[in-house]
Amino acid sequence: SRLPELLRAMPKAELHMHIEGSLEPELIFALAQRNQVELPYDSVEALRAAYAFTDLQSFLDIYYAGASVLLYEQDFYDMARAYLNRAAADNVVHTEIFFDPQTHTARGVGMETVINGLYRACRDAQISQGISATLILSFLRHLSEEDALATLEEALPLRDRFIGVGLDSSEVGNPPEKFARVFARCKELGLHLVAHAGEEGPPAYIWGALDTLKVARIDHGVQSEKDELLMQRLVREQVPLTVCPLSNLKLCVVDDLADHNLPRLLEAGLKVMINSDDPAYFGGYVNENYTQLFAATGMGADQAYQLARNSLEASFASDAQKADWI
Ligand code: ADE
Ligand code: ZN
Repeated sequence: SRLPELLRAMPKAELHMHIEGSLEPELIFALAQRNQVELPYDSVEALRAAYAFTDLQSFLDIYYAGASVLLYEQDFYDMARAYLNRAAADNVVHTEIFFDPQTHTARGVGMETVINGLYRACRDAQISQGISATLILSFLRHLSEEDALATLEEALPLRDRFIGVGLDSSEVGNPPEKFARVFARCKELGLHLVAHAGEEGPPAYIWGALDTLKVARIDHGVQSEKDELLMQRLVREQVPLTVCPLSNLKLCVVDDLADHNLPRLLEAGLKVMINSDDPAYFGGYVNENYTQLFAATGMGADQAYQLARNSLEASFASDAQKADWI
């Protein structure tokens, strides 16, 4: 079959990827050594062996620990260039990269250190690889809204270096309504809005993200299937869902890729596409997500084209860029 070659070669966008989740164990160890940071693991192998997750929180604990090696602008640059090399190799023509500034500013790293390192990597990758790369500042929902508002204020001098804001980290117990004021402020500022909702949390969090936060896309959203009225709305309004199959498998949101609901959501007319979420932790970059999900579910070329088209259409790229791709 030529399906794996089609999945590899077709131009696609990646709309749900956390840059801190692209930090490979080898780079974590290299940066720990370069920056004299102590790690609670003896080796790359010991760290990789700890990547056995039971739910979202069990992953987040290790993911935040891994990010502790990031101290200087060059660290953020090196991490992002490594991801952008992998994305370009997967024929990603456009990527919208989440970053979690609070994970770094809480350790005393400057906001400009984080944003300037990531932004320079995006610019250099555009020049040398032709990949379009933009940044989305993501608020940590386990922290307070006051902390998110202060983070936004800190980032505003660099407003032209990110295109939007998102909401991530521990979902259950931290509903979207907790962030109503900061998202309203971001909307006034003309930022694009997205939020994680319905990864582990209930359909009510997807309704809240749409109605209270006024987001343009839902990150994950796989729990929408539990609510028929919500499904109808997502179809009617063509709300994009940035689905992450290997993430759902590794965080036990699904027991088996063969049972993943993406084929059903696609068939029902929802605007879904495939993304890698945290590729260094979940077993692969975007093309690995495509090939493993297609192998497990028996989807074919028609679905492949539709998913790639959805990814490009659902992006925040300009109409001129989209006209070049679609
Ligand atoms: N941060 C990084 N990956 C995440 C995910 N899948 N859900 C929530 N927060 C995250
Ligand atoms: Zn995510």
